[in-house]
Amino acid sequence: MTKKNNVTMQALAENLGVSVSVVSRVLSGQASKYRISKSTEEAVLKLAKEHRFRPNQLARGLRLRKTSTFGLLIPDISNPFFSDIARHIEMNARKIGYSILLCDSQEDNDIERESLDLLRNRMIDGLIISPVGSQGDHLVELLEDGLPIAVVDRNFSNIDLPCVTSDNYQGAYDGMQHLLDHGHRTIAFVQGLPDADPNVERVRGYKVALRDAGIPFKKSLVIGTDFGQESGYAAAKKLLKRKQPPTAIFAAGNMIALGVLSALAEEGVRTPQDMSIISFDESPWSPFLDTPMTTIAQDTAKIGRMAVELLTNQIEKSKRARRPTVLLPTKLVSRDSVRRLRTPKKQ
Ligand code: RIB
Repeated sequence: MTKKNNVTMQALAENLGVSVSVVSRVLSGQASKYRISKSTEEAVLKLAKEHRFRPNQLARGLRLRKTSTFGLLIPDISNPFFSDIARHIEMNARKIGYSILLCDSQEDNDIERESLDLLRNRMIDGLIISPVGSQGDHLVELLEDGLPIAVVDRNFSNIDLPCVTSDNYQGAYDGMQHLLDHGHRTIAFVQGLPDADPNVERVRGYKVALRDAGIPFKKSLVIGTDFGQESGYAAAKKLLKRKQPPTAIFAAGNMIALGVLSALAEEGVRTPQDMSIISFDESPWSPFLDTPMTTIAQDTAKIGRMAVELLTNQIEKSKRARRPTVLLPTKLVSRDSVRRLRTPKKQ
């Protein structure tokens, strides 16, 4: 027999004078189901152990056309929002015997396309994706191949896929209500990727809350280019240069809020004394900042768990699920970064 720890199932079978299927059934715990004798089962297990046998998962995948692997493609693994979702997806997939092949699209459409090719070539059994943009043309081939796909957080606007995300509209509306209740009237919204689904809904919540409070919408108070720290920093710098700066900033994401904070610190602007801040996304650092941050928390644990459910539902039913997007409620976590203004400042 070949040297230890790269022995094949074929070699084990030949050595014991049994068929490969007997070895395979014993090693996959099905000896009793196929009425394989105890002595044969013990002989197979003993020899496999002696040779540290490990099944060739790739060969098994080719044979069974099943790799027990999900592809997971997210825009920024360094962002605690996405890393927490990834962790919950991995935990829930592991519970049902699946492993995860993770790719980071780095908020770049080209890398997203390359990652999809890589994952497809690894014969994944399903894909969970949080897309960079809102156009899903580059997924059409995967859809036509029948690959089960679930979307998390950011949804596509031009293809109909099962998606689990937060109720971003209501979360933004609630955050605005919190600022309005504290007397703020000149509120800036530092947005993320303009056409990303969560951003579109958050801006909608911002606008409707202003309308319901009888405050005219000012386009110049909605600025920002993406969900990154640099965009938040540049936007805050710009807002501070206004003749009449806002009394409050609503950051559309956790990394945006970090950028805003660094710009305010550079300009000696204190929170909440000089500027109130609220941020979409709870983050590990939110409670421990010099001024603990008021946030709109997303249920990343439930998003991760439901993403796996959306995928396994498709695999079990072996048909594409057509279902409405699942919207999960957000939660306002009130801390110290919003000051109550004595007299509401007019716009
Ligand atoms: O911080 C990243 C943001 O982008 C989060 O709010 C999440 O919703 C994602 O869309």
